[in-house]
Amino acid sequence: MKITVLHGQMHQGSTYHLTKMVLDRLSGPDTAIREFFMPKDMPAPCVGCNRCFLEGEENCPQADAVRPVAEALEEADLIVLESPCYVFGMTGQLKILLDHLGYRWMPHRPHPKMFRKVGLAVSTAAGGGADKVVKALARHLFFWGVPAIHRFSANVQAAKWDEVKGEKRKKLEKRAVCTAAAIRRQIGRARPGVKTCFLFYIMRSMHKKGVFSPTDHAHWERNGWLDGKTPWKDPA
Ligand SMILES: Cc1cc2nc3c(=O)[nH]c(=O)nc-3n(C[C@H](O)[C@H](O)[C@H](O)COP(=O)(O)O)c2cc1C
Repeated sequence: MKITVLHGQMHQGSTYHLTKMVLDRLSGPDTAIREFFMPKDMPAPCVGCNRCFLEGEENCPQADAVRPVAEALEEADLIVLESPCYVFGMTGQLKILLDHLGYRWMPHRPHPKMFRKVGLAVSTAAGGGADKVVKALARHLFFWGVPAIHRFSANVQAAKWDEVKGEKRKKLEKRAVCTAAAIRRQIGRARPGVKTCFLFYIMRSMHKKGVFSPTDHAHWERNGWLDGKTPWKDPA
């Protein structure tokens, strides 16, 4: 199993440990984990040139930094997005990376392989807001086309992992076991549900009307999606 993890922070705090709890239970001789840490792996924010949408992602001024992340996401069976809650949202540094991947949203150029993957969104907060972060992270996975998305959020009542109480950790361990088991069952078997199919078909009808850029349109045409093919029934 190939796993790609996008960490919304550099340090190994509560969010990192929560993510690790799940990853440890998925790890085995057949597991390869690729990790990216923000902002080290994507330091530059989007400059709003729109070149990724209009001319192709290779024309982004930060294309060299985005490419390895995008390729690792394409190769993964499981994609993990994780971030501590900062003022009721994900960290700014993770949002910077996710902005750069906007061209992969369903209206534009979703990667065909995304429609068979499993996603996991993880967040911790001290008191409240972790659920809002995983909701936002899950939204990215959904708009990339990922069909099976798990959420793991916790209000840990602590500023640091060392301060998280033993009882709390035990409860989190139990949830990690269940989450890992559910993910393992879906790897290689995930297929889009009604919501993803519905969005895909709406986007297809808009592409047929030429609503999006010629670059986006060419992507849909090249994949045969405008001729009735779908990325889940007719994988590239
Ligand atoms: C800038 C900043 C903003 C924060 N905002 C919130 C918040 O809105 N709600 C909350 O409950 N905790 C908030 N916290 C606390 C962290 O979310 C919490 O301690 C979290 O578990 C830290 O995860 P980490 O150890 O992975 O960094 C904030 C912490 C920082 C540094």
